[in-house]
Amino acid sequence: MLSIQNLGKTYPNGVHALQDVSLDVPAGMFGLLGPNGAGKSSLMRTIATLQLPDQGSIRFDDLDVLAEPATLRARLGYLPQDFGVYPGVSGWDLLMHFATLKGIPASARRSTVSDMLNLVHLYDKRNKAVSTYSGGMLRRFGIAQALLGTPSLIIVDEPTAGLDPKERHRFNNLLAKIGENVVVILSTHIVEDVWDLCPRMAVMNSGQIVAHGSPHALTSQLRGKLWRKEIGRNDLAKVKAQHRLILSRYVSGALVVDVLADAQPNGFSPVEPLLEHLYFSIIGAED
Ligand SMILES: Nc1ncnc2c1ncn2[C@@H]1O[C@H](COP(=O)(O)OP(=O)(O)O)[C@@H](O)[C@H]1O
Ligand SMILES: [Mg+2]
Repeated sequence: MLSIQNLGKTYPNGVHALQDVSLDVPAGMFGLLGPNGAGKSSLMRTIATLQLPDQGSIRFDDLDVLAEPATLRARLGYLPQDFGVYPGVSGWDLLMHFATLKGIPASARRSTVSDMLNLVHLYDKRNKAVSTYSGGMLRRFGIAQALLGTPSLIIVDEPTAGLDPKERHRFNNLLAKIGENVVVILSTHIVEDVWDLCPRMAVMNSGQIVAHGSPHALTSQLRGKLWRKEIGRNDLAKVKAQHRLILSRYVSGALVVDVLADAQPNGFSPVEPLLEHLYFSIIGAED
């Protein structure tokens, strides 16, 4: 279990990236959902001991993470949001290099690297330069790198951003396979990824944890309070003035709005809540 208490971080430019963040993260997949700028990467870099908080503490089982960063790093697998690679180096050579950095003994290195490349379905591409990999291949390579040394804490920062649906699906299937006894923290702004993969989640906004729990429990809080209506293209402002708008979107060319209200508004029909309704009810509707 990862236990984060009262973390605070203000960058030199005055941005309060983390404000009194407390969170318990049990074993299994944990989704950290939030819009751009919410503080997800700041939190993940802090847990990964790549930057120090101004205040607060982090424990991983019996380890005081901030006091013993090297011990944490030996147990950590981290896929940063901006994972990039040197041009020209093959997948095999680069993963061998990462395995060396991770302290995997020379005798085990070749077999470990083979296993990892097979796991992420890149063994056939091992002699190609990583810089020629597609976005999805690069993220899968990033996961292979993060899994070296059998980490017990795995942090993946927005791994599916920019992937096409097929690549995203493949990447998510890979994440879902990763052990149940390890802590996996996945940050994303893609609501479906959290719904599909994570039994536990938190929503971050403006440097704060604004909701946490199971996606199902959080979503069911909205049951009986969501209402839908098809409206005219020019009526959005009127709906916003009269109701708490959660979502608006075009469905087969018609504008459909979902609003939150305790009682059924005139002309609206009930809607079964989805995690995206919960998300937008917390961070504000997008127009
Ligand atoms: N190194 C930094 N220096 C100054 N401001 C930063 C730095 N890193 C992030 N920020 C700011 O902190 C806030 C949170 O950023 P970040 O943690 O990257 O959020 P997210 O990953 O959720 O998009 C943003 O306002 C961002 O501009
Ligand atoms: Mg980020």
